[in-house]
Amino acid sequence: MKLDNLRNKKLKEWILEVAELCTPDSIEICDGSQAEYDRLSEMMVQSRTYIKLNEQKRPGSYLCFSDPGDVARVEDRTFICSKNQIDAGPTNNWKDPDEMKSILKGLFSGCMKGRTLYVIPFCMGPLGSKISYTGVELSDSPYVVCNMKIMTRMGEAVLEELGEGDFVPCLHSVGAPLEEGQKDVSWPCNPDNKYIVHFPEERSIWSYGSGYGGNALLGKKCFALRIASVMARDEGWLAEHMLVMGITSPEGEKRYIAAAFPSACGKTNLAMLIPTIPGWKIECVGDDIAWMKFGADGRLYAINPEAGFFGVAPGTSMQSNENAMHSLAKNSIFTNVALTPDGDVWWEEMTEEQPEKLTSWLHEEWYPGCGKNAAHPNARFTAPISQCPIVDKAWDDPNGVPISAILFGGRRSSVVPLVHESFNWRHGVFLGSIMTSEKTAAAAGKVGELRRDPFAMLPFCGYNMADYFAHWLRMGEKEGAKLPRIFYVNWFRKDDEDKFLWPGYGENSRVLKWIFERAAGKAEAVKTPIGYIPEESDINDPPNLNVSGDALKELLRVDVNDWKKEIPGIKEHFSGFEDRLSGVLWEELKALEERLNK
Ligand code: GTP
Ligand code: SPV
Ligand code: MN
Repeated sequence: MKLDNLRNKKLKEWILEVAELCTPDSIEICDGSQAEYDRLSEMMVQSRTYIKLNEQKRPGSYLCFSDPGDVARVEDRTFICSKNQIDAGPTNNWKDPDEMKSILKGLFSGCMKGRTLYVIPFCMGPLGSKISYTGVELSDSPYVVCNMKIMTRMGEAVLEELGEGDFVPCLHSVGAPLEEGQKDVSWPCNPDNKYIVHFPEERSIWSYGSGYGGNALLGKKCFALRIASVMARDEGWLAEHMLVMGITSPEGEKRYIAAAFPSACGKTNLAMLIPTIPGWKIECVGDDIAWMKFGADGRLYAINPEAGFFGVAPGTSMQSNENAMHSLAKNSIFTNVALTPDGDVWWEEMTEEQPEKLTSWLHEEWYPGCGKNAAHPNARFTAPISQCPIVDKAWDDPNGVPISAILFGGRRSSVVPLVHESFNWRHGVFLGSIMTSEKTAAAAGKVGELRRDPFAMLPFCGYNMADYFAHWLRMGEKEGAKLPRIFYVNWFRKDDEDKFLWPGYGENSRVLKWIFERAAGKAEAVKTPIGYIPEESDINDPPNLNVSGDALKELLRVDVNDWKKEIPGIKEHFSGFEDRLSGVLWEELKALEERLNK
């Protein structure tokens, strides 16, 4: 399509404005077709960004290695530029929007020289859904175009649906202009100067210097969480870092649940799990983001705004996540995994036996025992959700799916039991607000450090987190609302020898079964000071769980003294929000303290 033929006036003007600022060599409006995808992929093979994988082993798939300085989200370079700093809150980086605009205009000036500006119209959510929203990304990266084709509904159909309507403008550059005659590198980026910037009042995004994941695929974290969370606050819905899955009992009863775990804490794995308990069935609606709105019947309905998986590769195997392995068997893009001599991919724990020889993500020769990672710990696959063998038939339903339970969770080696249920919505919001988890490789920085990550939204909330808590509390007060029950899970409790007490993965179905039955008002529970927990026999049902009796006791143990030690940390956490924090959460904390002291 030609620029002149664009119907949307705002879009046309914006493209021209960006072209004048960034001075690309050419402009291409993406139609989202397979032919376009193939042409850009072939172009990236020629430019050595891509390695085409063995067509017999991994049809239609490509591998690329990023710059070692561009391997994950960069939270310290991510900004929420609301007019007032207090509206970004204490957990976000902030700069005055005018000041930031002038910095960005300097950086973007001439930044696309020697490159093509791609216009990427995309829809987050099913086309035609009332819950969906449109965005347009302008990017100088063909890698972004190809990933967006898998991750979103992208191209001509979106433009058609958009018509003269409004969209979220998402501007992206790898920040690596090419001088006349300068040869390009395989992964252009600006490793030392990245800016991932959001203007919540304007609902716009500017991203500079990175080509990787959530920094560059702007429909994902930037739009579907940071900007969408602001839209959701204003319009009375929820934009959350949550998987959505269907669970069907042996009796054929089906319920949907949503679960928020921090990055690299098990959403993709849970969303696709194969139950170890007989008769139960899991189906996948989404693995990372959920948008939820109340339906006319008072229930919360969720859609997956995405159309693909951008999943953590290392640790993914036929044993741990067979459905993910099938999803990525073809038509996929791999970033920072290793290359086998026969043109396929490999990563840590993909197979029990390690290959004899590989090319690592650092382009180096790799062999077992060489002391280095073959794949980067945050290496990822991009795969269409339609390729998931257990994709739910409602995954693309414009109406979404009704949610019966919401799970929170994180990596905690101690204190937090395998599962507990909140007393009510308010208490559930309190549980979300105090979530803690060990840091993972999904973001740049030190791995393993314990940090507060409320609702798994610490890096993704586009406004003051205290206001976000208040928004969740308000959602619970909506008249006629039939609210999901709220649970807190922890697959990561460890013993004295630093080994996981819980086998996890498929065995998590035992916990899901208890949650399902609680949501149906059936299962029994034990009341503790922190919430309701199951009996050991609820988890060891059928009684063939390969966990010792002592370990199961430990997994479900609520240690009053351990929990008392958590209180000062929660107080400090809450105090950080000063007078913006809802009094309800202080009351919940006081009530917890009283229950613990009884
Ligand atoms: P993002 O895509 O970054 O948001 O991550 P995610 O939440 O989807 O995490 P994912 O499912 O990719 O899991 C990341 C890692 O957590 C996996 O590679 C596993 O090593 C580990 N993991 C997932 N589920 C379990 C589990 O039940 N038990 C244990 N011990 N580890 C798990
Ligand atoms: C996460 O970090 O939570 C991800 C990967 O899902 S990214 O798209 O890079 O944000
Ligand atoms: Mn994520």
